[in-house]
Order: sequence, then structure tokens, then C-alpha cells
Amino acid sequence: MEKRPIIALDFANQAEVAQFMAQFPTTEKLFVKIGMELFYQTGPAIVKELIAQGHAVFLDLKLHDIPNTVQKAMRGLASLGVSIVNVHAAGGIEMMQAAKKGLVEGTPTGKKIPQLIAVTQLTSTSEAQMHADQLIEVSLTKSVIHYAQCAKKAGLDGVVCSALEVAQIKAATDTDFVCLTPGIRPLGAEVGDQKRVVDPAKARTIGSTYIVVGRPITQAAEPYQAYLKIKQEWNGEQ
Ligand code: C5P
Repeated sequence: MEKRPIIALDFANQAEVAQFMAQFPTTEKLFVKIGMELFYQTGPAIVKELIAQGHAVFLDLKLHDIPNTVQKAMRGLASLGVSIVNVHAAGGIEMMQAAKKGLVEGTPTGKKIPQLIAVTQLTSTSEAQMHADQLIEVSLTKSVIHYAQCAKKAGLDGVVCSALEVAQIKAATDTDFVCLTPGIRPLGAEVGDQKRVVDPAKARTIGSTYIVVGRPITQAAEPYQAYLKIKQEWNGEQ
């Protein structure tokens, strides 16, 4: 089956989203990522609207709270019909289990339970910051792998990670463990503030399960053309 790159809808409001989506044919069903910026402005309305239009949604809210709160929040998010949601692995195994439980409880009968993935160490965190701020004394890679193993133990489907970490994470968990990777740039594209980027074809050969692409599509002169090209590369058709 053809795989769709997940488009990061990093916009400030519903009007900007509508303007962007209008550049795609309505028959093209997309997989989009909605993060905190948009969700905290629009609330669940934008999620419901996109799903009603036939698009799939990764709701990137990175929950991190006490298990009971996360469980109840996930119950509500599952009822929206999203495809993927996430939590911070730093919240602990018990919190991740509670998140999963909430999703199971909140998924309407007959619907698919959203995939649940964990953020390990944020890619904005350097090893020095991790040592100083979190008092974690192992290497950054070791901490990332440890968190991935905790996520696996808690029954989660996978993690958000750099494409460059996929092989190590799969080796430490299992080959089916979902690795959702941002930091994707087609060859020759602007890198922006991303530091370690991988192109879509490379992400495929490395074993990423999903790729997240923002600006190379949202800021393109012709977003639909840019999307189709990235989709082809991601599916190994170029
Ligand atoms: O525009 P760009 O392709 O860099 O957007 C990538 C998206 O993935 C953004 O929404 C960014 O916040 C998100 N992300 C990331 N790196 C992570 C986790 C999320 O770039 N480690």
C-alpha cells in the first residue's frame, strides 16, 4: 500500500490551515500532524473537521502528567478518531500504560485504537543539557534507547525519533516497533533549523515507519507538487 508522508500543519489558526488545504485536490486524502500551536488555538474542532474530510490525523500533544490525568485525557482524544497520539516517555511506564488504557476506553466500538507513541529525549536537548538539567549521566543515545525500551514495556506502539536512530531503536525493541521520524528534507531543500536531516528515500531504506514533513511542503511555492514528489521518494518510486 502506498505510504503517505505526514504533513506537519504548523499553522496558527484554522484560516491558515484552510488556505493551505485548498491547494490540494479534495480527492487527495492526506495524513496530517496537528501540534500544540494549532490545537491550543482551535481545540478539537480542527481535528474533527479534517477527519470528516477524510484525512488521517497524528495529534502531537506530547502528554506528560500523572497517570490518572493522562488516562482521562487520552479517553477524550481517542473519541475524536485520530490515528496517532503521543506522550513523553519521561512520564514513566505507569503513565504510558495509563495512556494506553485511556485510548482503549475512549475508542468508539468498531473503530481502530489510535497508535500510541512516545517522545524519548527531545531533539532540541543536547547531551550536555540532559546531563545538567535532568541529571541523567549516561549518553544521550543510551537515554533514548532506554526510553524506547520503557515505551515497549508499557505496550506502546513506538517512538518519535531521528531517522538516524531507527536501526538502534529497532535492535533494542523489535523490528515492528514504530519509528516516526521528523527532520526529513528532500535532496537540495532548505534545511532550516533542523540539524541532522535525512531525505525521504533514505528514511525508507533506514526503516522509518512514518516520516513527518513540514516546511518543505507547507512553505513550497506549489505545496501539492512538493507533496507528490516527497510521496514518490518515500515510496521508492524515484
Ligand atoms: O518543518 P519541518 O519539516 O522541520 O517540521 C517538522 C515537524 O516535526 C515540526 O512540527 C516539528 O515540531 C516536529 N518535530 C521535529 N523534531 C522532533 C519532534 C517533532 O522536528 N524531534
